[in-house]
This record gives sequence, structure tokens and C-alpha cells, in this order.
Amino acid sequence: MGCQMNDYDSDYLAQFLVNNGFSPVNTPDNADLILINTCAVRAKPEQKAYSFLGRMSSIKKGNPNLILGMVGCLAQMKGPELLKRFPQLDLVIGPRELGRFQEILEGIDRHSGKIVATDLDLAPPQPAPCKGYFHKRITGHISIMEGCNNFCSYCIVPYVRGREISRPPDEILAEAENLLSEGIKEITLLGQNVNSYLWEGERKKWGFPALLNELSRLNGLLRLRFTTSHPKDLSDDLIHSFHYIKNLCPHIHLPFQAGSNRILKLMKRGYTRERYLELIDKLRKINPAIAITSDVMVGFPGESDKDFELTLGLIRLVEFDSLFSFKYSDRKGTSAEKMDGKIDEIVKASRLNVLQDLQKEITLKRNKALEGRQLEVLVEGSSKRGGQLTGRTASHKVVNFISNNTQIGSLHKVTIKRSFLNSLWGEIVE
Ligand code: SAH
Ligand code: SF4
Ligand code: F3S
Repeated sequence: MGCQMNDYDSDYLAQFLVNNGFSPVNTPDNADLILINTCAVRAKPEQKAYSFLGRMSSIKKGNPNLILGMVGCLAQMKGPELLKRFPQLDLVIGPRELGRFQEILEGIDRHSGKIVATDLDLAPPQPAPCKGYFHKRITGHISIMEGCNNFCSYCIVPYVRGREISRPPDEILAEAENLLSEGIKEITLLGQNVNSYLWEGERKKWGFPALLNELSRLNGLLRLRFTTSHPKDLSDDLIHSFHYIKNLCPHIHLPFQAGSNRILKLMKRGYTRERYLELIDKLRKINPAIAITSDVMVGFPGESDKDFELTLGLIRLVEFDSLFSFKYSDRKGTSAEKMDGKIDEIVKASRLNVLQDLQKEITLKRNKALEGRQLEVLVEGSSKRGGQLTGRTASHKVVNFISNNTQIGSLHKVTIKRSFLNSLWGEIVE
């Protein structure tokens, strides 16, 4: 569950387990070990994790030898409390503890007691490559840093992922080479705020643009991406990377969260609406076709109709390619949780509807503008609809198309014939 960081961590764990003699099963009913990797960012993923855990607990009732664990951000947030609430649970492991999984497994072997591991000061684990694990995938992820130091007032992430720590560049490069040797063609670098990546080596100081540049030169890497960028640290150097790094995809995910300076200040985001718009201008000057996506929240404590209008106004001005939008949700222990002026759920829901309707119009308009154009697509596999292939443009839009002899994992030109809200449809240029 949760974000791409969690996908990455789940792959890390799965590889570690396979290296230690485990093998995957088709249904949880046949498993000896079930780990649920959870998210705590809003109330909704929290509820989803509990209901999934409830279902897995009933499997354990029929199979007492099953080891049941909750890992990830919600495990970190709730800690031992989870063991009381879910008596079937054996393991509660936070995201910074994954590198100690060997010890945890040995602990299970030695005594059958329950284990809670939620230390936040540990460094990210060394990669545990497992040959063949990625061989059916075309796109892969690498986490380049863990944690977050920003403490935006609404956000639980700094409390559950700990302080920011960057991974050494040689480790990241080795991980990228391993992915490429497995057949991966596109790599997305991950971090809560990749712009603040920093590694001070003996001879060289590595900022994020330097890391990007080095990775982009790896043989066989067709496309490089990254997420997420924080507007307050988006440097001119990084913006220029979109010009001079040829395999860096022209797409940036740049969450703005709110369009009102008063709300941005209460959120402790560290930029203004004007500064955000200035960054968008700079990005579009470097590459007018760059795709810009973002995150936004409605119903932050104290958000007035006027503040909400400012958010809508910013969306109209920027015309994002797509937008993830959320209702503000109280997270225990954050400073926003203690703020006055909480917004009624009905008001939040109606603001979210208005916002999403506006964005749908914009997304469709931007997608329609691509009709008739030839776009380069990295072919990822068969589409859900039979007989078609699917892939993504460099700007990260899904394209479905018919072709009999196109190689999965290669770049092909596709003429866009029809555009929809969530995908484009086209014909391959043979
Ligand atoms: N590091 C990223 C965000 C990670 S969380 C960044 O700074 O942009 C992903 C998104 O979840 C956030 O961008 C925000 O829009 C949303 N989010 C975080 N906390 C939230 C909360 N308490 N309620 C609602 N949405 C939240
Ligand atoms: Fe959360 Fe802000 Fe850190 Fe993003 S930058 S993870 S929103 S605290
Ligand atoms: Fe969720 Fe943790 Fe990611 S809280 S959004 S899984 S960093």
C-alpha cells in the first residue's frame, strides 16, 4: 500500500526473502509468512491496512504456524499498540528497520514471541539483489534517500520515515546497473524530496543534478525519471537538467498543495504562490512541452471559500497534465492536528468534487491537444484490453496501440488518434 517508496521497499523485502529460501505463493492461504506493507499518510490508507490485516488474521486462525507481520509507515506510527488490537499479529516493523530483517527472521526462529522493531535512526539497507527478480519488468525504481526533514504541518511522513539520509552514489549506480542487467529500460529515482539529495564523498560533493547526470550515462538506460520534488528546493541546476540530459524524461511532479499564501504558510511549505508560478515559468521556458503534475489538498484547517478559489485559480493558470487531489485528513502528532478551524467533511467533499471536475476538463483538453501528434512510447507490455500493447510517453501518459511485431522494452513512434482522460490511443508508425 502507499507510495512508490513502499513499492520499492516491498521489492527489497521480497528479494531478501527469496535470497533466504522463501518462494512466492499464489494465494495468502498457502503462505508461511505474510507481510503487509502499510501507509499512514491519510485516514483512508490506514483503514485499508486494518481491513486487510483483519482478513489475513482470519487466515491465521486456521493456520497457527503462519507468521503475520505489518511493516511500513503505519507499523511505525502505531508500534506495539497494533499487537494489542490484532492478537494474531506477530511482527510490527517500521520502514527504517528493513535492513535488520535477517536478525528479525533469526529472532522468529529462536523464540516464538512477538517482535516490534521501530528504530528510526537506522541507515537505509544495502541492496539485496536477487537474480531474475526484475526480468519481466521494463520500468524500475531506486530509492536514493530516506526520510524527510521538512515537517509540513499536516504530514506524518517525517515521524514515520525519520530524518533525511542520502544513499552513497556508488551504491545507487550499482543498483541501477543491476536493474539494467535484468532488462529494465527506465529508472525512476525516489525520495520524499529528491532535490535535497546530498552526498559528501572524499573527492566530490554530489548534489541531485550531479547524480542524475552520472546515472543518465549508463549503457542501456533509455529513460530516467525522478519523484518527488519540493518546490522550495527546486534549483536552477535541476531545471537545466531537463535541457542537457537527453534521456531525462520531460516530466516533473511538483506538489503545490494549496494556492493561497495564507494556507501555504500554515502548511509550512516554505514557498508562495508567486514563487511556485515562477518555477513553472522557468520549467516551461527550458522545455515548453514538459509535463507538470502535482498534489493538492482541500479542507486544510482554516481554508475559506476564498482560499479554495485561489487553489482553483492556480490550477486554471498552470493547467497541470494531471493532479492527485486529497481531502485534508488529521494525522495524530502533527501540528495541523492541533489547529483551529477544522473544515466540515461535507464541505471538503464538495470542494474536492469541484476541483476534480475542473482538473478533468484540463487533463482532457491537454490530452486532446496531442491528437494527430507522433509521440515516442516505451512499450511496457500487453494492455488490459486484449490484442493491444501499452506503454508510456516520455511525459508519462499511457498509450494503447495495436501492433503485431513491436518489441516490448523498446521505444516506438505512435501516432495519437484519440485521447481520453486516463489514456491515449494510437497507431504505431511502422
Ligand atoms: N514528499 C511529498 C509528499 C508525500 S505525501 C511532497 O512533499 O510533495 C503525498 C501527498 O499526500 C502529499 O503531497 C499531500 O498532498 C498528501 N498528504 C500528505 N499528508 C496529508 C494529510 N494529512 N491529509 C491529506 N493529504 C495529505
Ligand atoms: Fe511530508 Fe512535507 Fe516531507 Fe513531503 S516534504 S514528505 S509533504 S513533510
Ligand atoms: Fe504512505 Fe509512507 Fe509513502 S506514509 S505515502 S507509504 S512514505
